[in-house]
Order: sequence, then C-alpha cells, then structure tokens
Amino acid sequence: MYRFAAVLGAVIAVAMPSLYDAHAATAQENYRLYCTQCHGITGNGHGINADGLAVSARDHSSAIEMSKLTDEELRLAITKGGEAVTKSELMPPWAQVLRANEIDELVVHLRKLCKCVAAK
Ligand code: HEC
Repeated sequence: MYRFAAVLGAVIAVAMPSLYDAHAATAQENYRLYCTQCHGITGNGHGINADGLAVSARDHSSAIEMSKLTDEELRLAITKGGEAVTKSELMPPWAQVLRANEIDELVVHLRKLCKCVAAK
C-alpha cells in the first residue's frame, strides 16, 4: 500500500510539476541557469560562450546601454529572441523554456544588474 502510494505520488509529481514545484526558480536562478553562459555571471557580456559569438552578448551591467532599451524591448528579446527586435539571432528565444511571469521577473532582474531605468 505504501509502495503504491509512493508510486502514485511520483506519477502525479511528474504529471503535475507545477503543483509539486514547491520551490519556483527565482529570476536570479533562471539568469544563472540560462543566461550567464553568454551574458556572464555578473551580466557583463563575457560568459564562457562569449568568445564563440560573432555578435557580442549584451552587457546587462551597462547602465548606458541598457537605459536605451524599454522594458517591452527586453521582454520581446527574451521571449522571441534577438531576431524579434532586429538584433542577432544568436540571442535565443525563451518562450518555450520560461513562463511569461518568469520573463517579467527577468526584466526586473536586468534592471537590477544595470542599476538603470527603462527608456521611455
Ligand atoms: C547563446 C548565447 C546567449 C544566451 C544563452 C542568452 N543570450 Fe541574450 N543575447 C545574446 C546576444 C549575442 C545578444 C546581442 C544581440 C545583438 O546585439 O544583436 C543578446 C542580447 C540580449 C538582450 C538585448 C536585446 C536588445 O534589444 O539589445 C537581452 C535583453 C538579452 N539578451 C537577455 C537574455 C536573457 C534574459 C537570457 C537568459 C534567459 C539570455 N539573453 C540568454 C546571446 C545570448
């Protein structure tokens, strides 16, 4: 019986990850997991893949660069990739990987990294 319950629990846990996902990833964790390989741990654009990129990854720590962009542009670039904002396709789209609210939280996180406000 216990064994059955354990198996059932595991099946439900696999089938309904969102309900069992007691620890939702924070924007910082998502950034570390998905963005730092190109944008760098501190967001300065020098991740371990940076040398292999024909177009440099955006320096998210640059207030000068980042304050030229609106939050909508950041959201669109993250959701649909660089091409959607007429930038390099080397910036991948994340709509299939991250939920809309996680992308919103990443936009907030990017504003912390640049210590800047959005362009109007
Ligand atoms: C495979 C490398 C790579 C990964 C991984 C990556 N990026 Fe990028 N990203 C780039 C490159 C290259 C650019 C610069 C595109 C350009 O300027 O043409 C860029 C640009 C951007 C921009 C600026 C777009 C603009 O309008 O200038 C944002 C915002 C961004 N990335 C966010 C993210 C976030 C958030 C993640 C993680 C979820 C991420 N990126 C993961 C390569 C990457």
